[in-house]
Amino acid sequence: MYDGDIASVLISEQQIKDKVTELAKQVDEDYQQAAGDLLLVGVLKGAVMFMTDFARALPQPAQLEFMAVSSYGSSTSSSGVVRILKDLDRDIADRHVLIVEDIIDSGLTLSWLLKNLSSRNPASLEVCTLLRKPDAVQVEVPVKYVGFDIPNEFVVGYGLDYAERYRDLPYIGTLDPKVYTSGV
Ligand code: PRP
Ligand code: MN
Ligand code: MG
Repeated sequence: MYDGDIASVLISEQQIKDKVTELAKQVDEDYQQAAGDLLLVGVLKGAVMFMTDFARALPQPAQLEFMAVSSYGSSTSSSGVVRILKDLDRDIADRHVLIVEDIIDSGLTLSWLLKNLSSRNPASLEVCTLLRKPDAVQVEVPVKYVGFDIPNEFVVGYGLDYAERYRDLPYIGTLDPKVYTSGV
């Protein structure tokens, strides 16, 4: 699949599985008090793979909501301009909300999202992200659960795209620069 476009496998399918299980256990322990009242908010589209695997790995019941936000354009770096493509279907007031993200790059998307959701008065609001790029951060965001800190390289797969492609790869890989320099 996508032969030649992927320069290297950064995180394998098995490594992702193990990490998802670990994060789900951790979250389960922390949310014993809230048991039955946990609301996962997945950020479309990137978080979709992580969200569905995470929800199934979580030992306690949780409800699923999705929000679609996107930074403008399909470039390899974030513009910082966030738009809501789809809002939540329900009120989150007094709910224990856990935002589920695939990656924190500059932090701009999440910073905006945290402000937006906290204004809706949830009982609690935390973030669980599979990936984080510490070297790319422009805004510090408080993130309770992080799967992997990764180098500042362009990565795709397991929900992460380049121009809407590669989301369906089961692993996370680095993109061969030829893909985004050839003017696809
Ligand atoms: C990507 C990614 C995160 C965000 C991280 O989403 O899924 O949501 O960018 O970047 P930041 O920390 O620099 O804001 P994107 O806007 O590409 O939309 P998508 O999830 O639909 O791919
Ligand atoms: Mn996203
Ligand atoms: Mg994207």
